Amino acid sequence: MKKKWLIGNWKMHGNLASNKALVGGILAAVPSLHEQVSIAVCPPFPYLYQLAELTRDTYLGFGAQNVSDHLQGAYTGETSPLMVKELGGSYAIIGHSERRQYQGENDGLMGRKALAAIDAGLIPVICVGETAEERDSGRTHEVLARQLDAAFGYIRTAHDKIILAYEPRWAIGTGIAATPEIVQSEHEFLRQRIAIRDKAFAAKLPIVYGGSVKSSNAASIFSMPDVDGGLIGSAALNAQEFVTIYGELLKAIVPANS
Ligand code: 13P
Repeated sequence: MKKKWLIGNWKMHGNLASNKALVGGILAAVPSLHEQVSIAVCPPFPYLYQLAELTRDTYLGFGAQNVSDHLQGAYTGETSPLMVKELGGSYAIIGHSERRQYQGENDGLMGRKALAAIDAGLIPVICVGETAEERDSGRTHEVLARQLDAAFGYIRTAHDKIILAYEPRWAIGTGIAATPEIVQSEHEFLRQRIAIRDKAFAAKLPIVYGGSVKSSNAASIFSMPDVDGGLIGSAALNAQEFVTIYGELLKAIVPANS
């Protein structure tokens, strides 16, 4: 049975008090974790240390929403993945569409950041996804293939600590998630594309979906065979919602012998 992943991307939200309440709410509602699931939250950088404290000795992991493509040096305003790792972080979201859209990040930078994250011992959560215009003009697969090839061109695919996230830009923050059928079909496409490089790696690679996942649509999305979990935005800011989504993920876990 493949593992499942639930990762909350808090984006630029939170403060010391609300972060504490949110983590407390999650841990109170889910005191222990199913062994085949990993849960993590990704707060803004200034709160990483707070998250390290709040999650100490718990199952809850944490990570950064972005990292530098360098490990150290004169890069004003950047954060090394080594720093995230030193604080106890395990993940780094890489190439999120909001960084592409507002910070001018491109495919090549995404690949270099993913490699730097791996070199620092973090699990990169590599985001790919098409815009509405790209989908409408029938270019979804072309775009996904380009983003994927750029990222995996840098990464040694034998590495087994990578998560891929399919996040169609048109579904992010819109309240309108991709249909389960679209999610399955694009996850399948991504897996097949990776399989061209490395079949065994592709079969093992966790592919999570992100874009308007909430408690009301999580079950149908998580029931798809190529969906290994979710990258949750706004619904991750509400402990009750996040925990309910976790519950839906649990239902998608079927015993290996069934
Ligand atoms: P929403 O769940 O708010 O649509 O955001 C998804 C996302 O961007 C996660 O990285």
